[in-house]
Amino acid sequence: MANPKKRQLKLGALLHGVGGSTSMWRHPEAQPDASVNFDLYRRWVQTAEAGKLDLIFIADGLYINEKSIPHFLNRFEPISILSALAAVSTHIGLVGTLSTSYSEPFTVARQFGSLDVISGGRAGWNVVTSPLEGSALNYGKKEHPEHDKRYRIATEYLEVTRGLWDSWEDDAFVRNKETGVFFDPEKVHTLDHEGEFFSVKGPLNIARSKQGGPVIFQAGASDVGKNYASKEADAVFTGHETLEDAVQFYQDVKSRAVSFGRDPDEILIFPGIGPIIGNTEEEAERKYQEVAELVTTQNALNYLGRFFEHHDFSQYPLDEPFPDVGDLGRNSFQSGTDKIKRDAKEKGLTLRQVAVQAATPRSSFIGTPVQIANRVQEWFEAGAADGFMLAAAVPNGLEDFIDHVVPILQERGIFRTEYESDTLRGNLGLNVPVNRYAKDTANVGNN
Ligand SMILES: Cc1cc2nc3c(=O)[nH]c(=O)nc-3n(C[C@H](O)[C@H](O)[C@H](O)COP(=O)(O)O)c2cc1C
Repeated sequence: MANPKKRQLKLGALLHGVGGSTSMWRHPEAQPDASVNFDLYRRWVQTAEAGKLDLIFIADGLYINEKSIPHFLNRFEPISILSALAAVSTHIGLVGTLSTSYSEPFTVARQFGSLDVISGGRAGWNVVTSPLEGSALNYGKKEHPEHDKRYRIATEYLEVTRGLWDSWEDDAFVRNKETGVFFDPEKVHTLDHEGEFFSVKGPLNIARSKQGGPVIFQAGASDVGKNYASKEADAVFTGHETLEDAVQFYQDVKSRAVSFGRDPDEILIFPGIGPIIGNTEEEAERKYQEVAELVTTQNALNYLGRFFEHHDFSQYPLDEPFPDVGDLGRNSFQSGTDKIKRDAKEKGLTLRQVAVQAATPRSSFIGTPVQIANRVQEWFEAGAADGFMLAAAVPNGLEDFIDHVVPILQERGIFRTEYESDTLRGNLGLNVPVNRYAKDTANVGNN
């Protein structure tokens, strides 16, 4: 039994079909149709739940071309797959990406509201603003909104969505067959929102779940993105190569949250990691090499190019300094492309080195189960993370972590052996949000 007084680690798993790499699908142990294989997703969610993970996460994007990685070409839409997974799981959180730049808040409030009720209070929404300019072409828009404007849209969007989720107070539906009263008209509220980007009357046609509304995730990493995440999000996804960078980001976001009047414990930080686990260090290293060797130079250039609006990097000499691409990338993956340019300049990297580093990153989470558990614990205790988002960097990466690392973390008393709750907020230790219209606040507290 975990020591209840000890701060507890949170864990999520990115379910990402054939993976985030260009070539993992070719590995002998990979299932090449994984991105559209529901049986596999069902097995993954049940494995993650058996491991007592807090949540699974389905990422998403809205534009592909022939250079996109295989997983992006043919994959499940998040709300659809999460709804199906809700039916085959009972405790684990179900988190999905949906873009505020290419959707309507009324529809999205309904979709996540429904998922939250279907799953009994386990839904989470990763609010993204969509990096890729090509997305505009799929939505009848003349142009992709500019980076900072996307965050202004996202701010109003979330205000509307949260307003809609409060349409019905928790005890609004009386459903009294004798009196014929289905709902209490005092307890339904019309939003009447008129703003810069949205006009939404309401009320929403679904009530709050028992967790009081989906958990809000965000992954902003630019200055404006970090402000948005710090002000609005319950949890933040991030990615770092070193412990020092991760600590710095953690402190930055927590202090921004405090400056917005929030309790820093109300916002959880989840660095993404791709652990590669072997019985020995050599075996783990071999697993990394097996996947890395499948990536051709052209694969790596295409992978890198996507962050720069699918720029064609094959036009430059490979072994000369990383080319000057000007502002390219700033209106899409701003923080990521700024970092690639900065690192290349400071470290004097060639195009080949930058592309290989992007396409086959060598994480610091490669080793034996004890080594991985040590590193996870180190980051957790050093103030770099409240939890981690696990991504399978090799086939069976999730299963390996759950079978071999989770028991060590449990043994050390920093990870649960049983779920504390059957809602996502309950397991993450987040409060149920107060319905803005509720006079009686007795329902507030951990679920
Ligand atoms: C763990 C993690 C998961 C992410 N998932 C998505 C996603 O599913 N869809 C998406 O468009 N962007 C995703 N992003 C990218 C962010 O939304 C964002 O574009 C990026 O972090 C750049 O931040 P900025 O918008 O502040 O420049 C993710 C980022 C991280 C670190």
